[in-house]
Amino acid sequence: MTRGGLILAVESSCDETGIALVEDGRRIHSNVVASQVAMHAAAGGIVPEVAARAHLRWIVPVLDEAWAEAGVGWDDISAVAVTEGPGLAGSLLVGINFAKTLAYVHGKPLVPVNHLEGHLYAAWLADEAREVPEPIFPLVALIVSGGHTFLVEMRDHLQYKLLGETVDDAAGEAFDKVGRLLGLPYPGGPEIMRAAAGATRHDVVFPRAWLRDSFDFSFSGLKTAARRTIATETGGQGTSTGESPLGEDRVAELAAGFQDSVVDVLVTKTIRAARAAGARSVVLGGGVAANRVLRDRLAAAAEAAGMPLVVPRPALCTDNGAMIGAAAARRFEAGARAGLDLDAKPSLPLARR
Ligand code: KG4
Ligand code: ZN
Repeated sequence: MTRGGLILAVESSCDETGIALVEDGRRIHSNVVASQVAMHAAAGGIVPEVAARAHLRWIVPVLDEAWAEAGVGWDDISAVAVTEGPGLAGSLLVGINFAKTLAYVHGKPLVPVNHLEGHLYAAWLADEAREVPEPIFPLVALIVSGGHTFLVEMRDHLQYKLLGETVDDAAGEAFDKVGRLLGLPYPGGPEIMRAAAGATRHDVVFPRAWLRDSFDFSFSGLKTAARRTIATETGGQGTSTGESPLGEDRVAELAAGFQDSVVDVLVTKTIRAARAAGARSVVLGGGVAANRVLRDRLAAAAEAAGMPLVVPRPALCTDNGAMIGAAAARRFEAGARAGLDLDAKPSLPLARR
């Protein structure tokens, strides 16, 4: 049975301009991403106005490349999908107005997609490079990105029960902030992973915020602990982006200690939630899911608990258009349509408790 046909999906909620052509929510015909990471690295973070202007600059070339890679045309398209939120208002607006115009001009239905639902549905995308099983319900999913960290239970498609979320920083935000404290370039997530891989002693232990039995997360205490340790070890001088007075080996040890603490809490709570829900599979998504240590440890723990972990390859974990196409297929099938009055929803939630 067809599940939406071929959907053209547009993602522009943060700092990646992504357009993909996805068939039935599973088969990727093309998935083009123009990343602004290098541009924002100079400022040490995302400048919203700069991000929106870069989306404007890149969205047409990204679409051209998506068509060229897929070798299909408008006649093959059943709908245009776009991220409506959450995200940066200006960035969202570029993608929304672009998608609206395409849908209007080519007479295609417009399907609004929640960015967080996109991160979840990336787990349903097929991978040419390896066999990926489809997630099985009921499942528990951990979504960890730069703006969000939450655990959700799904008993069927498009049904979400929020089990827990961060009470302060998102996991990716914590990686980025501690990366900066360690003098690593932006974004801190991949840099900390790379630095931590070089640690040999593993003698740094940072606190874990368990928040008793809840499935909520907190990373601000860990960030403060890291800041204190770094300040002490640099004689109160701290580090800013650029040269670190700590030395490469020490940065590696601190990065590993920080990463261990984050991964330990994420893995432990996810497995506990999955057991409590009687889950048959565990899903991992969001930019931080590109982290090798998190992927490996969660896979091992899920396997030991008799539930396979489904996690997309790293390029499908960070923001991209294909994940929006995957979620859009289900939304399209369920009858979701947007009019030309579709507006950006910067704080759109995925689910309420
Ligand atoms: O999902 P995403 O691309 O954008 C948002 O929706 O926020 O996530 C971006 C976040 C950033 O905080 C980045 O540092 C983090 O994902 N990230 C990683 C890794 N790759 C990206 N964090 C840890 N390890 C990584 N390898
Ligand atoms: Zn994202």
